Amino acid sequence: MTTPRQIHTAVFPVAGLGTRFLPATKASPKEMLPVVDKPLIQYAVEEAYAAGMRHMVFVTGRSKRAIEDHFDTAYELESELEAAGKHALIEMVRAVSPDDMNCSYVRQPRSLGLGHAVLCAAHIVGEHPFAVLLADDLMVGPPGGAPVLKQMVDAYARLGRSVLAVQEVPADQVRRYGIVAGQPAGERLIDIERIVEKPAPEQAPSRMAVAGRYVLSAGIFDEIRQQTPGAGGEIQLTDAIARLMTKEAVYAYQYRGKRYDCGSKEGFLQATVELALQHPQMGAGFRDYLKSLTL
Ligand code: UTP
Repeated sequence: MTTPRQIHTAVFPVAGLGTRFLPATKASPKEMLPVVDKPLIQYAVEEAYAAGMRHMVFVTGRSKRAIEDHFDTAYELESELEAAGKHALIEMVRAVSPDDMNCSYVRQPRSLGLGHAVLCAAHIVGEHPFAVLLADDLMVGPPGGAPVLKQMVDAYARLGRSVLAVQEVPADQVRRYGIVAGQPAGERLIDIERIVEKPAPEQAPSRMAVAGRYVLSAGIFDEIRQQTPGAGGEIQLTDAIARLMTKEAVYAYQYRGKRYDCGSKEGFLQATVELALQHPQMGAGFRDYLKSLTL
């Protein structure tokens, strides 16, 4: 049974240029960079699926075709694996795109900003609330606990209002994020009063930084349509959220878990090492290897 507060659609803006990862991202999508054995976008799609979403909408751009191929059926590969009797591998390949999951693709013709990318999905999302996941933020839920987007969907089910994932960051890092401030509104929740994109540390209203997970009401689309370019000359999602807040409450949720900023080389390497250490097959051997290094 569908309740009005269930979220079915996840939007993945994957049309950015990925300049921090050049030259790797010259012809391949940043979101296809693998952390251990899965591309970043697959971690994000699995997180959305685990939170109950079945319609995945990818906002793609030039040189992003590999993402469509990754979630498509790979007939040649499957028949080769079949002929070789490699059934476990066939299951692994098929599990990338479960039967009850639908994918839609829309192009963002130019990288005009995250807000603009989200707006490109408006005609597919329609009037319903939806999630936005930035795949370069790899989110790992707490050990044995719910994944981050599931925590947010549960918060949305209670509140019926937009929810942004936030974490506290050091003062010298606030200029990299959207920063929120507001009133405590229950466990791990803040009723947002201010949101500012990439403030200077002395102008930041707090150190609560927005991470790449959002549950948004469809009202955000009208706000983005009216948005003029902001920080960096881009149509910022943060600015549209600030406008939405004048019409309806928007909450920040301090998620449980860990975020790796895989849009940066440092964060990507940290994710690779930490997830390799946790990997069921290779974790123990990799730990021994790390211990053997003279650092
Ligand atoms: P980033 O700020 O990480 O930008 O975008 P980027 O272009 O991908 O990477 P750098 O900074 O040049 O290295 C955050 C998310 O928003 C998407 C990106 O794909 C990324 O997932 N995005 C950004 C778009 O889809 N379109 C845009 O115009 C901008």
